[in-house]
Amino acid sequence: MYRAPAAVRPRRAFCGRTPYAGRMIGDRDDQAVHPTRTAALFLRQFVQSPRTVGAVMPSSAALARAMLAPIDFASARTIVEFGPGTGAFTREISARLTPECRYLGIELNPEFVRKLAGGFPRLSFVHGSAADLAQMLAAQDIDSVDAIVCGLPWATLPISLQETVFAGIDRALVPGGVFVTFGYLQSLILPAAWALRRLLRRSFAEVGRSPVVWGNVPPAFAYICRKRM
Ligand SMILES: C[S@@+](CC[C@H](N)C(=O)[O-])C[C@H]1O[C@@H](n2cnc3c(N)ncnc32)[C@H](O)[C@@H]1O
Repeated sequence: MYRAPAAVRPRRAFCGRTPYAGRMIGDRDDQAVHPTRTAALFLRQFVQSPRTVGAVMPSSAALARAMLAPIDFASARTIVEFGPGTGAFTREISARLTPECRYLGIELNPEFVRKLAGGFPRLSFVHGSAADLAQMLAAQDIDSVDAIVCGLPWATLPISLQETVFAGIDRALVPGGVFVTFGYLQSLILPAAWALRRLLRRSFAEVGRSPVVWGNVPPAFAYICRKRM
């Protein structure tokens, strides 16, 4: 079994109690094993914090594949995920991660952090906001990031927070680095989606879109962005 080098394993990443602490049995595909439990947790958190969770159910594996397609996992040395939730994208990232690549997941919801830390014991998670990316990278001795996988609920985030997040992304990503996020097809015509597209075009040299993932509920697509070299 792959064991991450000490530098990759969580240091001050997660300090809460977890029922799974110490179970180094490789990443548990919890959503596959307990899809109903995972969906119920997600829905519960949505009911408690609809604006920060931003969706009633986790993304599909098909959307995760569309999100990760542009990332070169063979050469990546650091990957950051914003808003991993119950791990829909994390699971696919974990399956592709090389031993040389560090992963840091930044999640605002403490229940999700607890689940992630138990489900993916080889990966590092911090409880906090993507807006504090610079401080979180510094605390982990990470200078730069090759790719950022983002599950943030853009439609419900205040514009000032969105701008702070994009400023942090710009500082952290290496030249040519990849940023992927997703949008729901049904929301494309809403002002929040226009605002996001404007921010993406302002922040990146290239902004593209994956084909629509019709199997996701609701149908969604990935925005694929690249920082200028
Ligand atoms: C739409 S859900 C996506 C979850 C997961 N990536 C997926 O696709 O199933 C949004 C996630 O972003 C998290 N989130 C919201 N605001 C955040 C912030 N400022 N920083 C980090 N995570 C945040 C929520 O707690 C939630 O887990």
